[in-house]
Amino acid sequence: MTAVYPGSFDPVTSGHYDIIERAAGMFETLIVLVAANSTKSPLFTAEERTALLRESCAELPNVRVEILPPVLLVSYVESCGAKVIVKGLRAVSDFEYEFQMALLNRRLQPEVETIFLMTAAEYSYLSSSIVKEIARLGGDIIGLVPEAVRQALLRKYE
Ligand code: PNS
Repeated sequence: MTAVYPGSFDPVTSGHYDIIERAAGMFETLIVLVAANSTKSPLFTAEERTALLRESCAELPNVRVEILPPVLLVSYVESCGAKVIVKGLRAVSDFEYEFQMALLNRRLQPEVETIFLMTAAEYSYLSSSIVKEIARLGGDIIGLVPEAVRQALLRKYE
């Protein structure tokens, strides 16, 4: 069975990676899907975010990284023959937004289920925005992001 893990991944953090690794253990194929048309103005282009994810997931043979074309997530999921969307939940504060998206996605495509994996406790405070802020201000982000991402952030903010 194939599952799709969508997100902005600007950039991928150790929290995302933990979800990827665990979801890859549950499904035959996991497609990590980079949303290109994020309304947020991203630090990394979709191509850069994809390359960083590919490098970070190089040791996970059943993980593929793709860019979401300008279509609905559920349409993409259906077109790859998948029936499951995987999302990570960090805290109760994530719940309302994720619940809204899960219900809308079910309304748009009832055959597709959204499942949630709880974050690992040690990453529950992590987010791409906070990692970018720490990196921008010269703080230590070792362990908060995959090494390739740390290097890319150092280059962006040097
Ligand atoms: O990491 P993010 O920013 O929380 O990811 C949000 C994402 C990409 C999962 C969401 O914006 C999305 O699904 N976009 C694709 C377009 C779509 O289908 N929108 C309707 C969702 S109800």
